[in-house]
Amino acid sequence: MSKSNLESLIKKSRSVRSFAPGKKVDSETLEKLIELCRYTPSSANLQALKFRPVTDEAEVAQVFAATAWAGYIKDEKLPPEGHEPSAFIVICCDKNIAANVTPFFKDTGICAQTAMLGAAEAGLGGCMIGSFDADKIKTALGLSDNLEITLVLALGYADEAPEIIDAKDGNIKYFRKNGCHYVPKRSLDDIIIK
Ligand SMILES: Cc1cc2nc3c(=O)[nH]c(=O)nc-3n(C[C@H](O)[C@H](O)[C@H](O)COP(=O)(O)O)c2cc1C
Repeated sequence: MSKSNLESLIKKSRSVRSFAPGKKVDSETLEKLIELCRYTPSSANLQALKFRPVTDEAEVAQVFAATAWAGYIKDEKLPPEGHEPSAFIVICCDKNIAANVTPFFKDTGICAQTAMLGAAEAGLGGCMIGSFDADKIKTALGLSDNLEITLVLALGYADEAPEIIDAKDGNIKYFRKNGCHYVPKRSLDDIIIK
């Protein structure tokens, strides 16, 4: 089977943790990524997710300060100083639409990957951030009480190109060597249940 465009895009869409300094993502681009999310499937078609684009420099800095990156990498600061993302999309569940947020973590994943593929297609890089201080972000962005943050998407122009490698002996920890970020993926055989 030849490689499809979709397969190429999915492979290109790696988690990036170092961004080109001075190259900003504009709000129109974020809006286009959010628009892609409009067309995704939704539990009971409730469309309870709301998206807060963040491009203002002061807000970006505050959201960044409330995120944690690359838990497996202990000997390097990531993103490196000066190579932080220039934008975020903060995904929230609107509890006025869905009081029970739990099902919407699935919707969040669908939207997150959709936006990230759109970002990759637009020449951007990014990283989904599940490790964040929700209270700090809510305060920084003035989010109302009905909005519960489900995931944060960091975005920017990548200045690294992570590489996929085959996971050996079940070791799935990503690592960095000679400036390259390597992401081990389990084999197809390992993930198909027989
Ligand atoms: C739901 C979710 C939450 C994540 N949260 C974080 C995070 O808080 N910090 C981080 O550096 N990476 C985070 N990641 C990125 C993963 O570490 C990354 O997807 C994994 O290492 C595989 O690399 P790849 O995305 O390039 O395939 C998250 C990924 C997902 C799907």
